Amino acid sequence: MPISFDESTRVFTLNTRSTTYQMLADSYGFLLHLYYGRRSDGFMAYLVTYADRSGMCGCPYDVNDRTYSLDVLPQEYPFQGAGDMRSPLLVVRDESGAFGCDLRYDGYEIRPGKYALPGLPAVYSDDEADGAETLMVRLRDARLGLVVELLYGVMPELDVITRAAVIRNEGTGRITVDRAQTACLDFVNGDFDVISFHGRHAMERIPDRHRVGHGTFSVGSRRGMSSNQYSPVMLLCDHDATESTGRAWGMNFVYSGGFEAEVTGEQFDQTRMQMGLSDDRFSYPLEPGEQLVAPEVIMTYSSEGIERVSQNFHRCIRTRVCRGIWRDAARPVLINSWEAFYFDFTGECLVKLAERAASLGIEMLVMDDGWFSTRRDDLRALGDWTVNEGKLGGTLAELVDRVNALGVKFGIWVEPEMVSEDSELYREHPDWVLAVPGKGPVLGRDQLVLDLSREEVRDNLFEQLCRVLDQANIEYVKWDYNRSIVDTYSRASSDQGKVLYDYMLGLYDLLERLVERYPKILFEGCSAGGGRFDAGMLYYMPQIWTSDNTDAVNRLKIQYGTSFGFPSSAMGAHVSACPNEINGRSVPLTTRGITAMQGAAFGYELDLMKLPERACEHIRRQVKRFHEIEPIVREGLLYRLDSPQTDAICAWEYVTEDGSQAVVSAVRLEVEGYGVANYVVPRGLTPGASYRDLDSGVVYPADALMDMGMPLPVRLEANAAVMYRFERVD
Ligand code: GLA
Repeated sequence: MPISFDESTRVFTLNTRSTTYQMLADSYGFLLHLYYGRRSDGFMAYLVTYADRSGMCGCPYDVNDRTYSLDVLPQEYPFQGAGDMRSPLLVVRDESGAFGCDLRYDGYEIRPGKYALPGLPAVYSDDEADGAETLMVRLRDARLGLVVELLYGVMPELDVITRAAVIRNEGTGRITVDRAQTACLDFVNGDFDVISFHGRHAMERIPDRHRVGHGTFSVGSRRGMSSNQYSPVMLLCDHDATESTGRAWGMNFVYSGGFEAEVTGEQFDQTRMQMGLSDDRFSYPLEPGEQLVAPEVIMTYSSEGIERVSQNFHRCIRTRVCRGIWRDAARPVLINSWEAFYFDFTGECLVKLAERAASLGIEMLVMDDGWFSTRRDDLRALGDWTVNEGKLGGTLAELVDRVNALGVKFGIWVEPEMVSEDSELYREHPDWVLAVPGKGPVLGRDQLVLDLSREEVRDNLFEQLCRVLDQANIEYVKWDYNRSIVDTYSRASSDQGKVLYDYMLGLYDLLERLVERYPKILFEGCSAGGGRFDAGMLYYMPQIWTSDNTDAVNRLKIQYGTSFGFPSSAMGAHVSACPNEINGRSVPLTTRGITAMQGAAFGYELDLMKLPERACEHIRRQVKRFHEIEPIVREGLLYRLDSPQTDAICAWEYVTEDGSQAVVSAVRLEVEGYGVANYVVPRGLTPGASYRDLDSGVVYPADALMDMGMPLPVRLEANAAVMYRFERVD
């Protein structure tokens, strides 16, 4: 059984295929964290040391025992008020405003299957196939009537343990929750690095690796979205860990709003890693009987380097966060109108684009921004989701039918959470936006954010969207979100400290209604490129536009960083025109194609009509090549062979789980002089086997390949790329 409880020691043990997690409900009723590491039998309580560490260590719970202090002991759910002066997961106030609680162990339940969370995205289980189990550990503060149910989802085959917490007021007075983080991992020893992901618009998720010293390293978002600036993914690893050696732990937040992820090196050289909701503008009152759910964190551990943490995240998110018919299906190769036309298109242009696309084997046309109401630039019309038939030269159904008649599917762009001041919706319902009365709103891209915490706002959007989606054969929706939430006041909320969290519940509610009503539509997330690339959104839509930056060389870094937390099946990646719109760089079409094929949500984002026949012929071959490798890219294990941050080449590899096929791609970033041979060293092949390069026919011994590697063409120019497809010779 994955979960067990030993009555005599009061130790909980959670086992996955290769990891063990342990905690102890000690004699004072506090929950101590004992262990998260490689699979091990036995009790790891021996790891915890008790000593009189002077009076500076917070309060003793037993005057006769000065060796016990929660300021030092590794904890499972640290809360403010117990004497632990490190960063807590929970801070509450009672009705008088007094801070602090005293949560003690109050029982547990072990249930078959993985828990679900009301109104929030979460990992789910296929109970028969997964053998998943849930542990609920209940903590109670008798004075406040505060109950916290700690939820642990154990997914044995995925090597994943999830955490969430339900915080409930079972008392008689109001309790205000000022901080509600979800998960922490306390380490009693270790010399660690922390890996986080920073960025900005058009340059998201760039990995940053720092040694953990004393003090707190923290990243997060106060933007009401997970953000282009920091990703809600954090790894901790041995200081000398590499992709394939050393220990590594990962946390991945299943939430799309503000977050905070921290690592603290504390006074006794111990380390705490934690993740959860941001405190920013958060102060959540719970009346008697009410509850708040701290969203889920996916955790995983690897004793075989960092890449295993990523591979575990990939499998978990691809197969047990993403849902629906597109989860395991090849996604259509698409052409998106944005970089081809921006706002400047007609129905005729789109049909021409679709015609050319069809001749190249491209399977879907996406009509991006600009198709509705008076939208001719980004100054107006968000909120008015009515088709501009004048611009399209007919009804939407007529346009879609013409495109479909070419054998091309049709997709559409929307940004439903937003409203322009210049729109019918805003003129009719100025009170439906998040805005502080009497204060001029802060605009972002000239738009305001609708108050999705309100049901009538969500109903209006649902109806407007259904009206569009029902009038034509729309098979794909790109769901955009292009600004942060600054003004935080809901006219309908009883308390403004609830608004940012309730907004997310509202968004998830709207998305759930839509994916239920349109199970066949492929939804793709987007937020000024990759500003809301998180496991929360992936619960509703299996792919996300990775970045507005389509320059292949920049993309190598963006996709490299994205791959630490997210599977290739989720990465929207397109070939665009050169010189690139953002940075003016030109790179060969081969490189653009190979780079975009790192994502299984592959496509094009340029005016195909402007391409010479030679380039069209190239694209035809590219699309064919993509189909050949697509299942391996979508479901294979990813190996990051060389880093675009530090190496002369950037190389990556996908290997099928059975090891029978592999795709190795490399871009040469730097060429110093001439004559230097760069070698790429694959991993994950079957030891002792041989592999045939399907293009050249050459057979290579796997062991030598994985030891010394293989040379890239010596004369490969800077920014040129190669791809090798290997098949095991059985
Ligand atoms: C955002 C998206 C782009 C495009 C535009 C349209 O910037 O990231 O891909 O859809 O909006 O306005």
